[in-house]
Amino acid sequence: MGEIITPGDKSISHRAVILSSLAKGTSTIKGFLKSEDTLSTLNSFVNMGVEINTTSELLEINGVGIHGLKKPFKTVDAGNSGTTARLLMGLLSGQEFISKLTGDKYLQKRPMRRVVDPLILMGADITGENNADNLPLIINGQKLNSIQYKLPVASAQVKSAIILAGLFASGETEIIEPQKTRDHTERMLNYLGSPIKTDGKSLFVRPIEKLNPSNLNIPSDISSAAFFIVGALINKGSEIIIKNVGLNTARTGILDILKRMGGRIEIEDKRNECGEPVGDLVIKSSDLKGIEINGEDIPRTIDELPIIAAAACFAVGPTTITDAKELRIKETDRIKAVVSEFSRLGADITELEDGMIINGNQQLKGNICDSWGDHRIAMSLAIAATQTQGETTINNSECVNISFPDFFDTLSSLRT
Ligand code: S3P
Repeated sequence: MGEIITPGDKSISHRAVILSSLAKGTSTIKGFLKSEDTLSTLNSFVNMGVEINTTSELLEINGVGIHGLKKPFKTVDAGNSGTTARLLMGLLSGQEFISKLTGDKYLQKRPMRRVVDPLILMGADITGENNADNLPLIINGQKLNSIQYKLPVASAQVKSAIILAGLFASGETEIIEPQKTRDHTERMLNYLGSPIKTDGKSLFVRPIEKLNPSNLNIPSDISSAAFFIVGALINKGSEIIIKNVGLNTARTGILDILKRMGGRIEIEDKRNECGEPVGDLVIKSSDLKGIEINGEDIPRTIDELPIIAAAACFAVGPTTITDAKELRIKETDRIKAVVSEFSRLGADITELEDGMIINGNQQLKGNICDSWGDHRIAMSLAIAATQTQGETTINNSECVNISFPDFFDTLSSLRT
C-alpha cells in the first residue's frame, strides 16, 4: 500500500493568513500550503505591513489587529488567485486607505462584479475597467453599512468577501446562500473567538474589535488529494492511504460522487482539527460506472469536476454533468478545456452549455495536449495519462505550482 502526503488546504491557507494578520499578536500555522496562489495572499499582507516569517515547517504571523493594516506600499497583486482577489476586495473596502488590486492575465478576465455589487450596497467605493467587472480595481476604503444580501450564485468567495467587509460594517450583515458552500471563513472566525451565527442558509456577521491569535493546523487539501484518489481508483491493483485530509462536508462531494460510481473509499480516524473535520482516506482500485452529477452535487465538488471527468472516461456507461455553468468562469473555461483536451486523448465527450456528457470505457490514447494554464486541467490530464496507451505530453504543465508544486514528484513516487 502506498502512502502519500498531499499539500495543505488552499482555501484554509488563504483564510489562515488573512485572519491571523487581523488578529492581534503572534499566530503559528502548521500545514500552510506554499504555492503560488497562497503566496499571493501572504505577500499582499506583507505589502500591508504584516510581519510574516516562514520556516519549512511553520508560518509565524505577527498580526496587527483589526484596525492595524497599513496602506499597501505597492499595487496588491493577486496573481492567478480568485480567492485572494475576491476576499481582499471585501477586506480592503472597509479599510481607512485607498488601494489598487490587480492579477495576472487569466484573473483579469474573471468576473468581479459579483463581489463589487454587494460591496457597493454596503457603501464601498470600487472603480475599474468594464464597470468594475475586471481587475485592476481601485478600492477607496469607506465606512461600510450592514446589508441583507441574497447571493445570486453559490460562491464561497463572494460570501467570504461580504463576511470580511461585514467585520468592518456598522451593524449586523445577513448573507443568504442559495446552496451551502465551503464555510472555512465562518469556522475559522468561530475558532478565533468571533463566532458567526447561522440559521439554515442564512448567516449573520457583526463588526468586531478583536480577533485572537492562535496556533492553527491546516489539513491536506481534499481538492489536491482528489487527483490521487482517482489515480488509485483507475489503476488496477492500487491501494493508497492519504493521511490528514480535510473532510468539511461542503468539500466532500468528490468522495460521495466517486462512491456512487462504485469507488472503494474508506475514511479512518475521523477527528476534529482547529474547527475542521479531518480523517485518513484509504482508496482501492475499483470498477467504476457512469452516473448523473447535478444540483446540490455541484457546489460541493466544483473544483473536482475536471478530475471526475477523468474518472468518468474509465467508467462503464455515460456520466452526465449538468448545472455546472460556473465551470466556465474558473481559472479557464473548464468545460471547454476538459472537452477539448480529453478529446485529444480519444475520449468520447460532448460539451453541454452547463456541463458535459462522457461515454466511458473507451481506450484512451497518448497525445500532445495543453493545460490551458489551469492547474487542475494539467493534473487531471496527468492522471488520465497514467491509463493511456502511448505517451502523453502536457504542455504548460508548470501551472501545477498554483496549488500543488510537488504534484509530479508525488505522481512519480507512486509509479516506481
Ligand atoms: C474557493 C471557492 C470556490 C472554489 C475556489 C476556492 C474559496 O470558488 O472554486 O477554488 O476558497 O472560497 P467560488 O466561490 O467562485 O465558487
